[in-house]
Amino acid sequence: MKLGVFDSGLGGVLIARALHEKLPDIDKVYLGDTLNLPYGSRSNEAIYQASKRCMDALFSKGCGLIIMACNTASASALRRLQQEYLPEHYPDRRILGVVVPTVEEAIARGYKRLAVIGTDYTINSGVYRDELNKINPDIEIVEKRTPLLVPLIENAGEAYLDQVLDDYLDFTKEGAFDALLLGCTHYIHLKDRIAARYDFDVLAQDDIIPDKLVAYLNKHTDIDQSLGRNGAFEFFVTDLTDGYAAHASALFGHNIEMTLIGDIHG
Ligand code: DGL
Repeated sequence: MKLGVFDSGLGGVLIARALHEKLPDIDKVYLGDTLNLPYGSRSNEAIYQASKRCMDALFSKGCGLIIMACNTASASALRRLQQEYLPEHYPDRRILGVVVPTVEEAIARGYKRLAVIGTDYTINSGVYRDELNKINPDIEIVEKRTPLLVPLIENAGEAYLDQVLDDYLDFTKEGAFDALLLGCTHYIHLKDRIAARYDFDVLAQDDIIPDKLVAYLNKHTDIDQSLGRNGAFEFFVTDLTDGYAAHASALFGHNIEMTLIGDIHG
C-alpha cells in the first residue's frame, strides 16, 4: 500500500515535500485536482463530489492511507467521506485531514489568541473555531477569508503579495495575536514572508503534519506495516500544463515528473 497526499491543486506539494523529508522510504502518491481548483469558492456538495472522485483515484493507485492536505476539502468533505463513504466502499482504508492536528498543535503550543486565514469555504465553515472550541473554549480566535492569496500563489504573483497580505492582515494590529495559523496548503509558501513582516508566530502545516503522521503510524501499526517502503513518489494532476509541471517542481525543490491522471471527473 501507498500513502496518498491530496490537494485541490499544487499547494499540497509543500506538504508532500515535508512528508517525504520526514518519511523518505514510504511509497507515496500525490494528486492535485488542478482541473477543479479553486475548491475554496465552491459549494459543499461540489467540493464533496470532487474530493470523492480524487479519493477513488488515489485508492485505485494503491493508497491505503490518504492525507487530505487541502484545508477546504478537510473542512467540507472529510467527515462525510470518513463516516459514509469509507465504511461502505473502502472499510480498510483511511483518510486523515489537516484541521484537527493543526488545532491540537496550536493548543499544545499554549497560544491564547490566534488568527486564522483560509479560503472562503474554510473560514465560512467555522471549522477552525469549532474544533478549537471543542478542545479549549478559552482560546480566542479571529478568522479572516483571504481568497486572493491562492490565485496569486498559483500564478506567480509574487510582486503583489506583500500589498495584498498587508491589507488582509491589517486586523492583526488590533490586539496582540500569539500566532497566525495558515489554514490553507498554499499559504505555506508565504510562511517566511509573513514571519519577516509580522511579529507573531506563524503556524504552518508543513511543520506540523509530518510529526502528526509519525505519531498516527506509531499508534496504528497495522497501517504502518501495510505501507510499502521503496521510497517511490508519483505525482498526478487532473489537468496538466507545462506551467503546472514547472510550478510543482519549484515547490517540491527539484524536478518531478507530473502525470495526467485521466478522466476521473467524468
Ligand atoms: N488547497 C486549498 C486549501 O488548502 C486551497 C486552494 C483552493 O481554493 O482550492 O484550502
